[in-house]
Amino acid sequence: MNLILKVWRQKNGQVKGRFETFEAKEVSPEMSFLEMIDLLNETLTQQGIEPIAFDSDCREGICGMCSFVLNGVPHGAQYQPGSAVCQLPMRHFKDGDVLTLEPWRAKAFPVVKDLVCDRSAFDRVIAAGGFVSVNTGGCPDANAIPVRKQDAERAMDAAQCIGCGACVAACKNASAMLFVAAKVSHLATLPQGQIEARERVLNMVGQMDAEGFGNCTNMYECQAVCPKEISVDFIAQMNREYLKAAR
Ligand code: FES
Repeated sequence: MNLILKVWRQKNGQVKGRFETFEAKEVSPEMSFLEMIDLLNETLTQQGIEPIAFDSDCREGICGMCSFVLNGVPHGAQYQPGSAVCQLPMRHFKDGDVLTLEPWRAKAFPVVKDLVCDRSAFDRVIAAGGFVSVNTGGCPDANAIPVRKQDAERAMDAAQCIGCGACVAACKNASAMLFVAAKVSHLATLPQGQIEARERVLNMVGQMDAEGFGNCTNMYECQAVCPKEISVDFIAQMNREYLKAAR
């Protein structure tokens, strides 16, 4: 199939960007979305045109690098909910479709180039407290620290967050609360995370605000586009943790 791609091109964060139109030819339905861009980039390179810059690493929905908006929705989640754009196969599209590709648009995620954003604000939120500072040593026996099954499962649900930033991109307030809530709740739900729970939530929420992310106004857009289907329940848990810690 042949597709028309309207792609956001921007040399860097200091200059204005604009949409450019390209034709992606002989795209197979078996290709992934990123393979389709690879193919287009090969053609552009052969024609002496600068290829489209985009991020990717694992290409299997784990690293959170492939961050762009497809036809108005982060990760193109309208085509295949619960997956990152790197996992989206081209069989969802048909010959002649027009696709629009844009970077995340949030003040805290400045554009580096084309579809690539600087998401290091998330790293700084994690560095503010998203870890357990004690040395936990080697792998202990499974029954050394008893954890209720429902707590272990809830912590695992939160731990699925890959930090891609789709929650921020989908939110009209550019709120990072789903991401921060997943990280806070993951550790707050486990006994190993209890000791530093107070400092963790205060520091991470403080850093989130300092980075310029907005607040949550319960639109659920973040949950709808999250490639790991993180629940907004975790935002409620983070708010409870914050209130307890701030007392
Ligand atoms: S490239 Fe790793 S999640 Fe998409």
